[in-house]
Amino acid sequence: MNSLNGVGNANMMKVAFEFIRNCESSLMLDIGAGTGRNARICKDMSYKGHIDGIDMNSKMLEVAKSKAVYRKLFRQPIHGDDPLSIEDCSYDVVTAASALLMNHLPARSIRQLVKVIRHGGILVFNSRSGLENRKYLEVLMGYADELITANVIKLEKKEVILYGGVGEGKIYAYVWVHRKI
Ligand SMILES: C[S@@+](CC[C@H](N)C(=O)[O-])C[C@H]1O[C@@H](n2cnc3c(N)ncnc32)[C@H](O)[C@@H]1O
Repeated sequence: MNSLNGVGNANMMKVAFEFIRNCESSLMLDIGAGTGRNARICKDMSYKGHIDGIDMNSKMLEVAKSKAVYRKLFRQPIHGDDPLSIEDCSYDVVTAASALLMNHLPARSIRQLVKVIRHGGILVFNSRSGLENRKYLEVLMGYADELITANVIKLEKKEVILYGGVGEGKIYAYVWVHRKI
């Protein structure tokens, strides 16, 4: 289950770029970096800052490294309430492209993702809108709403994007952009 030919990543980042401070000192963390496709797309979209990545799969990370678009790559399986091996408030942008979805990161790990974003920074993630992912989305939105109610993050934008496929086979996803307060 991925964003097929990368159209999902590009469409997610188009939404996010409206909110990202794009400068050389900007620091982005790519959660579930995989083979590095999202970072490649960010660079192709003229993101000027540095990108670090995390993934639990060392083979994926080897491919990501070969793309030479990351400053640092960390191997870490992300479990629900375990903190990331990263200092709190260190990134301007955290992306999770096709990583917060069923059978991937546990929904409650969104709380750990938010911790490593600096105040004023951006969290952007996508998740498929299909029936198969509905239960996961409900739980994920529950955690996001708790963070909103606690004034930890605020929703900047939610949009439906084309995720991949053509014609009758088109697949859609939601994109959320939150700002850490
Ligand atoms: C569908 S791929 C998306 C890869 C990339 N973000 C992209 O858009 O092409 C999901 C990635 O998340 C990683 N992943 C899934 N669950 C994870 C977890 N619990 N902790 C860390 N990485 C995880 C997988 O190894 C995989 O590389």
